Amino acid sequence: MRNSKIVAIGHHVPENIITNQYLSTVMDTNNDWIVERTGINERRWMDPSKDTVANMAAKATRMALERAKLTEKDIDFIVFATITPDYFFPGSGVLLQRELGLESIGALDIRNACSGFIYALSVADQFIKTGMYKTILVVGAEIQSTALDITTRGRNTAVIFGDGAGAVILQPSDKPGILSTHLHSDGRFAEELYVKDPGSSRPHQERQPEQITDTSTFKVVMNGNQVFKHAVVRFMEVINEALEANNLSKEDINLLVPHQANLRISQYIQEKLALSNDQVYNNIMRYGNTTAASIPIALSEAWAEGKIKENDLICLAAFGSGFTWASALIRW
Ligand code: COA
Repeated sequence: MRNSKIVAIGHHVPENIITNQYLSTVMDTNNDWIVERTGINERRWMDPSKDTVANMAAKATRMALERAKLTEKDIDFIVFATITPDYFFPGSGVLLQRELGLESIGALDIRNACSGFIYALSVADQFIKTGMYKTILVVGAEIQSTALDITTRGRNTAVIFGDGAGAVILQPSDKPGILSTHLHSDGRFAEELYVKDPGSSRPHQERQPEQITDTSTFKVVMNGNQVFKHAVVRFMEVINEALEANNLSKEDINLLVPHQANLRISQYIQEKLALSNDQVYNNIMRYGNTTAASIPIALSEAWAEGKIKENDLICLAAFGSGFTWASALIRW
């Protein structure tokens, strides 16, 4: 079987910077609370006059293509991870395909929230390894800001989430690249972090905006304590699973790029794995939690800053709504 390798990475974030200071003018919150509990200083929120999930994904893709001296025409399949598509249907993959001017290539959407990018990478990895495709575009892109309750009622989620996009290109390779991916879920906790509507399982009249009175409608609902407790356990489990599957140990990791859920979660994992500050990449301070986009944005920035070198062992890990959690080990 062939190997698959990440040959390019890119990202794009909206220009519109939302500071903690700004949030404290529209809801009862403050900079100290946000920084202490989450590590976030600012995040980007979309500008409705220019940003869509698909066009941010296209900009991230073009950065990746340029860095690898590839063109749109080289792409023969798209895997698009998002839980905030531009339309309820069709999916974002086809919108990106149109945006990139590509004709008739397959496009698949993945809806696994914060673990979505690793799920998408895993699917693309299998397609490359079996020889089905040669150049796959894997994207994570989200616009969360329009599903946030930007009032004191929604402050436990409104301060956390941000918008952005990241993209990687996968191709076959002689040498190992993606060593393994590990995917998990536990749907018993689906409602601990979710957006209820537009859901389809209730009668039409109950789903009319004027009939809907509970706060979960169209907005992110999160039981922060539960999410935190499960996240720290599952992150560690799935990283150890990946190391064991490859007969490697935590000492072999050159760089851990965790999903940017909360700086305290990243710091907990860092301590458990006894990694130095240089061995864990965090950018949640600047972007907040961008769900499926967080890992590819972080990877792209880490690479641009020279923190990822040939032959390094890179570990990706994520946890989020579902609950879902996942990891990937990559020999760069
Ligand atoms: N500003 C100020 N106060 C806030 C606030 C905000 N933005 N959001 C909540 N609070 C208040 C609460 O109302 C509560 O007040 P009370 O004590 O008077 O009832 C107090 O702060 C503590 O709330 P709590 O939810 O217990 O805080 P916490 O320490 O658990 O931190 C999170 C909240 C959301 C930061 C934390 O639970 C967390 O990070 N969870 C994981 C979230 C995550 O990673 N999600 C993404 C998964 S992919």
